[in-house]
Amino acid sequence: MAQGELKISVLNSKRNPESPIDSRKRKRQKIAEHRKSLPIASAEKRLIELVRKNDVLIIVGETGSGKTTQLPQFLFSAGFCREGKMVGITQPRRIAAMSIAKRVAEESEVELGQRVGYAIRFDDCTSSSTRLKYMTDGFLLREAMLDPLLSRYSVIVVDEAHERTVDTDVLLALLKDVQRARLRECQGRRVSPLKLIIMSASLDASVFSEYFGGAKGGRVLGRQCDVDILYTVHPETDYVEAALATIFQIHSEEEPGDILVFLTGQEEIESVGRLVKERLQGLPEDQRKLLPLSIFAALPSEQQMKAFAPAPLGFRKVILATNIAETSITIPGIRYVIDPGVVKAQNYDQSKRIKTLDVVPVSKAQALQRSGRAGREGDGKCYRLYLESEFWKLEDSTKPEIKRCNLSKVILQLKALGIDDIAGFDFIDKPSRGAIVKALAELYLLGALTDDCKLAKPAGEQMSRLPLDPVYSRALILANQFNCLEEMLITVAMLSVESIFYDPREKREESRTSRNHFASAEGDHLTYLSVYRELNELLEKRKTERSEAKIDKIMGKWCKDNFVNCRSLKHARDIYRQIRGHVEQMGFNVSSCGNDMLEYRRCLAASFFLQAAQRQMDGTYRALESGEIVHIHPRSVLFSSKPECVIFDELIQTSEKFIKNLTRIDPLWLAELAPHHYKTDE
Ligand code: CDP
Ligand code: MG
Repeated sequence: MAQGELKISVLNSKRNPESPIDSRKRKRQKIAEHRKSLPIASAEKRLIELVRKNDVLIIVGETGSGKTTQLPQFLFSAGFCREGKMVGITQPRRIAAMSIAKRVAEESEVELGQRVGYAIRFDDCTSSSTRLKYMTDGFLLREAMLDPLLSRYSVIVVDEAHERTVDTDVLLALLKDVQRARLRECQGRRVSPLKLIIMSASLDASVFSEYFGGAKGGRVLGRQCDVDILYTVHPETDYVEAALATIFQIHSEEEPGDILVFLTGQEEIESVGRLVKERLQGLPEDQRKLLPLSIFAALPSEQQMKAFAPAPLGFRKVILATNIAETSITIPGIRYVIDPGVVKAQNYDQSKRIKTLDVVPVSKAQALQRSGRAGREGDGKCYRLYLESEFWKLEDSTKPEIKRCNLSKVILQLKALGIDDIAGFDFIDKPSRGAIVKALAELYLLGALTDDCKLAKPAGEQMSRLPLDPVYSRALILANQFNCLEEMLITVAMLSVESIFYDPREKREESRTSRNHFASAEGDHLTYLSVYRELNELLEKRKTERSEAKIDKIMGKWCKDNFVNCRSLKHARDIYRQIRGHVEQMGFNVSSCGNDMLEYRRCLAASFFLQAAQRQMDGTYRALESGEIVHIHPRSVLFSSKPECVIFDELIQTSEKFIKNLTRIDPLWLAELAPHHYKTDE
């Protein structure tokens, strides 16, 4: 008997360690099972048949049914990537393109960037062997400028079309043309026509079908379980407080299952995360097993991945997300959804050049998508933090972005694609005529268009080739003449990322003092320049530390000591490298003005002359272009000094109309450097 027991224990100890081959096999099996279990798996044959028979196909399916990850793999297996052809899949969001490509590479057991890759602005992870290419819709638009027939693609899948971003809308119109042109080109030759697949999570895809002349639709049925919808009985005045109370109510009363909370942005998510942690401290030890995690576009991808990992044993995850988790990303394990019923929406007034960021009610379609997230794996509950009567008052769907964004970039792109008649262009939803005219006028003033609205050569062409807002592109082109291109590249890179400075609540004083050390009396642009340069000098000195990890560590410490947002700065350094590549390709020589900051400021004035403001008697400012009364944003280094005249990067309306990221200029420079706009007839 004793011997027998001994034998068993010996056997156990041998069985414990799993060989790498076993572990790989197990992983492969798990992935195969997962793929087979998706609702789309049983529709593979039918879908491929539909793609073969139709040049345009519209696929509608529940979120999480496997459209984005599986369909491209089906197309690959069915031979759509023969002879070096690619399947391109576009996403409105960078993070979705990246994370989904990563997942598909894993499922296909290939290295990311080989057969499966992704390409987003400032980050191209593809190679000559890439066959399934995930990218943002904006990236494909730029590709169309270089290759108008998109000749390397056999199929383009426009995913998440229901989001109706401006790039998706323009892309759809363009693809319609490309498809026709390809048909003409390939007649008589062995070139295949271009297939288009439009995928949408929203049930009403008739808008796309009509747009493509009655294109055929395919439906993938999801497995949607029952979701109990609960409304509040009384109106909530503070949805953040109501969301917090609901999180803790679910945690204490409901069965296991993770919670997904929809919030409006990074700051709100961070503050709710903090509040959840604080309140947990006040609970008895055994009730603290709640793990807050965040998901929003600007979060570094390793941290985003944490939200996908299962919660530690006995813990419940509470995922605080923006509307990115509505349709483009599916997190397993969610059983409870908390929907405050609001979303942050951007609007742009083309004539006054004012951006607004408002928290507005969601649409019915969004509310339905959100509640659906609770019923993917079993029955769930959705807590809508508003009255039921309010639900019926919501708009059916969200207003397309093209009706509420700055059109100048997109119009410049269309011009570069050879589309001259913007008002006559076949948009699904046309932007207003007034907005188009205003944007054309702006492009003319920036030197991108001639006075008969043709692409100016070479400036307009150069500007359209840079993946930037036209005003930034103009700044780079002028900086080449002002001999401060190096400084302007840094400036544009720094302006392209979110919050350079990091302002922890507990150490507000300390962080302000540290910022003073970078602050320039001339303004925010020069302040950012010092931040970037100081880090560069440090890294230059420590150049001998060759390992990337070491450099990362040095950078991390420096950022922490100086209250600089390390993620933003790294991103800015990447952007700098990429745009520098672009301008060098254009034949520009990157020279620096050293410490001659006067030339640099004059160059800013010459570029941002449409964004200038002058101090008034009462200390407020008047934006010269629109006549709007505006205030200096409290985070600007010029907030207290209030110079007479400034140029600014953006005018944004929140509680007040604020101008952000400013530099002091001499008002006389405007007439000198932008005479076509400021010179009066004397
Ligand atoms: O596009 P659709 O919403 O129809 O579904 P999908 O994005 O293809 O996702 C299909 C399944 O893959 C879902 O169950 C996801 O949870 C899973 N998935 C995952 O586990 N990890 C990812 N990074 C992406 C998807
Ligand atoms: Mg999808």
